[in-house]
Amino acid sequence: MDRYRVIEKFAKDNKWTHGLELGVWVGVTTFWLMKNTTLNMTCVDAWEVQEDNPEYDWQYNKKPVFKNGELVELQEFKHEGQAWNHSANEKRFREDAEQWGERIQILKGRSLNVLDKIPDGSMDFIFHDSDHSYPFVMNEIKAYWPKLKRGGYAIGDDHNWTPVRKSVEEVFGTDYKITGKGVWYAIKY
Ligand SMILES: C[S@@+](CC[C@H](N)C(=O)[O-])C[C@H]1O[C@@H](n2cnc3c(N)ncnc32)[C@H](O)[C@@H]1O
Repeated sequence: MDRYRVIEKFAKDNKWTHGLELGVWVGVTTFWLMKNTTLNMTCVDAWEVQEDNPEYDWQYNKKPVFKNGELVELQEFKHEGQAWNHSANEKRFREDAEQWGERIQILKGRSLNVLDKIPDGSMDFIFHDSDHSYPFVMNEIKAYWPKLKRGGYAIGDDHNWTPVRKSVEEVFGTDYKITGKGVWYAIKY
């Protein structure tokens, strides 16, 4: 099951009302959840080329290929314009978000810089899908844990990416689960 269907099922099973998505891109997951659930979403994205981030290039200017959990190849894009176009992505997201009114709150910025805009204990789930490098994912999970309600879920995609898996293991040990297509989640009891 894809990430957005996994979250849809969790949302329905647990009667969630508020979610936070860190890294929304053009909103594939966000708008799926708008159409298929009654969730309200807070959506965070930097939508920028991160020149100060040494982990940016391999994630956004190349196509990383993982096999058995190891990064085996960074494929060059074959055509110009395949690298991420953040300003076009932001424009598309904002335009598509308009029809959903107050159900979507947009916070532009890097996830670790907008923490103080999100109240502690306010989220039923947090979907970590921004920078996929180590230790960034680990730091983001730890920084956002207080934002979850009791019983809330921390969720992420791409558990087959080594830096993601390493981050998740360092935070939760074996205390987390995997479901669908590489979706990991941990519950705040
Ligand atoms: C894999 S895409 C998100 C996909 C989306 N969650 C979905 O399910 O369709 C990653 C996004 O994270 C954003 N991003 C990368 N680093 C970030 C950071 N530190 N803070 C916020 N957003 C970030 C990128 O701009 C990009 O749009």
